[in-house]
Parts: sequence; structure tokens; C-alpha cells
Amino acid sequence: MGSREPTESTPDSRSRWTASAIASSSDTANENVPVRLRPSSEQDLEFVLKLEADPETARFIHPWLIDEHRAAIDDPSVAHSIVEHAELQLPVGFVILRGLGTEVLELRRIAISEKGRGYGTHALGLVKDAVFGELGARRLWLDVYDFNERARLIYDAEGFVAELERPASGACGGCAEGTVTVMALERD
Ligand SMILES: CC(C)(COP(=O)(O)OP(=O)(O)OC[C@H]1O[C@@H](n2cnc3c(N)ncnc32)[C@H](O)[C@@H]1OP(=O)(O)O)[C@@H](O)C(=O)NCCC(=O)NCCS
Repeated sequence: MGSREPTESTPDSRSRWTASAIASSSDTANENVPVRLRPSSEQDLEFVLKLEADPETARFIHPWLIDEHRAAIDDPSVAHSIVEHAELQLPVGFVILRGLGTEVLELRRIAISEKGRGYGTHALGLVKDAVFGELGARRLWLDVYDFNERARLIYDAEGFVAELERPASGACGGCAEGTVTVMALERD
């Protein structure tokens, strides 16, 4: 999946994201928002790879090699973040955002290990707050497979609008057939 949008990164964009994500999630780390975001590190990659390999995740994504994750962590135009349980301080997922330093960001990936407990919804809310707040973007977009009901539910609930459909590439666990929908959210 390639971004259809022009990108132009700035060296400080990642630190801006990091500060924003931590600040916004710390402010809201309570019963209602049980997760927060923090930058991923080398030590997190075992968790990330295990989550990507889980069949309930792998069928909806294109799992990456460890070096692809390392490159993303090092890329100043990418925010590779762990979704952490706020009280337990344990990873429950991760989020990858591309295009930092531009007005158009891509939610490249979101994956949650303990599915169906609201963590994905809350993490997406934190991402939205940072993207349209501190990061000053005007548009956030993503791709989702049509058979990914759980993901569609959280994107719909957060206001993402379906823009176009295209055939699936067949490169992920369960996507040999079907379609991919591009969904986007614009700043109010
Ligand atoms: C998609 C994903 C990030 C959502 O995170 P999550 O923490 O599981 O989501 P939430 O618990 O916040 O919400 C899930 C919604 O799906 C519903 N749901 C739960 N189990 C479901 C199931 N088996 N099938 C369909 N919907 C389901 C929930 O009721 C909830 O909807 P509601 O808020 O209207 O009640 C997570 O499930 C995941 O990692 N999936 C695999 C990777 C993936 O698909 N990533 C997105 C690629 S575009």
C-alpha cells in the first residue's frame, strides 16, 4: 500500500508526535481512557512481531519483517507507537502513522492484542487528537479490508468516511479476495 499523497518530513516531527501523544494520553489516562501511546523501541519488537503473527491479526494486515519495523522506528516521518495499558503499563497494541511533517497523514497500521475491550477505539481517539491537534494535520486516511468488520466499526464510530474501493492485493492472510476501502477523516 503506498501513500497517494505527497509527503514532506521535517526532522522534529517525530519528537513533536511523541510529546503530543504522551501528553494527551497522560492527561486522559483514567477509567474512561484505559490506554496511552508511547514511542516504540527495539525492546518492543518481539511483542509487535508476535501480535502481527497472531492469526486474528495477520488475516487483516500485511505483517512486516523486523527490519521494516526498525526502519519505521528510525524514520522521522513515521510515528511507531506502542498502545500501553495505562494502569498495568503493559503493551496491548501498536500504531504506525506515516507522513509526519505534512498535512496529510496515513494511519498505516493499528493492531490490538486484547481485542474487543475498547482499546482500539480509545487508541484511535488518542491518534485523532494528536493528528488534528499538536501535529496540525488536515487529513488522516487509511486502508481497510471489507471483511474487517471490527476495524470498520471503530473507523465508522470515529467519523472516517469511505472514499473509494479497490480490489485487495491478496498479500495478507485473509485477503485473497474482496476489496479494500480507503477511508479518511478531515479536520473540522
Ligand atoms: C481492529 C482493531 C484494531 C480494533 O481494536 P479493538 O480493541 O479490538 O476494538 P474495540 O474493542 O475498541 O471495538 C471493536 C468493535 O468491534 C465489535 N466487535 C467485537 N468483536 C467482534 C467481532 N468478532 N467481529 C466484529 N465486530 C466485533 C465490538 O463490539 C466493538 O464495536 P462497538 O464499539 O460498537 O461495541 C483490533 O481488533 C485488531 O487489532 N484487529 C486486527 C488487526 C486489524 O484489523 N487492524 C486494522 C487494519 S485496517
